[in-house]
Amino acid sequence: MNSKINSIISGTGAALPGTIITNPDLEKMVETSDEWIVSRTGIRERRKLEEGFSNVDLTETASRQALERAGLEPSELDMIIVATVTPDYPTPSTSCLLQARLKASRAAALDLAAGCTGFVYALTVAHQFILSGACKNILVVGSEVLSRVTDWEDRSTCVLFGDGAGAVVLSPTDEDRGILDFSLHCDGRGAELLMIPAGGSRMPACSESLQNRMHFIKMNGNEIFKFAVKAVEENLSVMMGRQGIGSDDLDYLFLHQANLRIIEHVRKRLRLPREKVPVNIDRFGNTSSATIPIAIHEEVLSGRLRQGDLVAMVAFGAGLTWGGVLMKW
Ligand code: ACO
Repeated sequence: MNSKINSIISGTGAALPGTIITNPDLEKMVETSDEWIVSRTGIRERRKLEEGFSNVDLTETASRQALERAGLEPSELDMIIVATVTPDYPTPSTSCLLQARLKASRAAALDLAAGCTGFVYALTVAHQFILSGACKNILVVGSEVLSRVTDWEDRSTCVLFGDGAGAVVLSPTDEDRGILDFSLHCDGRGAELLMIPAGGSRMPACSESLQNRMHFIKMNGNEIFKFAVKAVEENLSVMMGRQGIGSDDLDYLFLHQANLRIIEHVRKRLRLPREKVPVNIDRFGNTSSATIPIAIHEEVLSGRLRQGDLVAMVAFGAGLTWGGVLMKW
């Protein structure tokens, strides 16, 4: 292993379906209001994948952009990791479908399920393969079609989620930049706070599970909210403490987009200006493992995110899982 090798993000991409569901659209479906949704969550609209398309379609669009921006051919990929909780099938994995679409003939492929923390987990896993020298270029995708597991009759969840994908290519560098630190966590005692009860081996899909709407997301939002604020703050302070970094040093904090109130709470506690903490939940809702890579891609496209910037990403979600990555861009 070459101790000087680090991992950098060499290309980014994103895919968002064209169909927009606004809060007034939801007012026609469930007993809710634009005022409630905006004030409690910050969401104004979200995207919904059109019928006939599935998760792999989103992953392909985002991945092709990321590869092009990295200046790489699919044949140069050693591995593909798709972080998702909404795969096309229970098996095979969506990453295998993507590998075939891209004709990435040399790439190993795996899906990773860590809820909304999936992208941060996947990036960290990919980083290990690059550090070890076993892989050079790894495609890491966060992609979700949450509209297909959302109960459109449940106002407490259907207003929250959206569909979308973000992709990055992770590549080795010997420059003085790349991933500085990471921190991954899990507390499985909170598994029932956010789950899709049916469709797995515990409760296979059957007429009863369908009748009881058990194949949709069930969430205890209040408990997740409390956990999220604590987890994000602890995670950041551990990584920044280890690296001797203060919040003033951060150029970017990419937080999982689950609720604007969580984002604003953390931003204010760290005394960070708005432009350092990108927000896309207003336009895309909670796209789970895709929120952070989509936000990163938007900042790259805008030209604001530049080489040398100190970037933190922190996510939390089903599992319960939480984790962060600190990197010099
Ligand atoms: N429209 C109108 N009223 C609503 C709606 C709605 N869409 N949804 C719930 N309400 C009502 C409730 O019924 C309740 O009414 P009551 O007081 O008469 O009982 C009232 O509004 C307040 O409900 P709360 O659940 O207490 O509202 P809260 O302010 O906590 O907001 C929310 C709920 C938005 C879900 C919040 O708790 C949250 O964002 N939690 C975090 C979720 C999260 O971070 N998930 C991340 C992981 S996601 C993943 O991994 C896929």
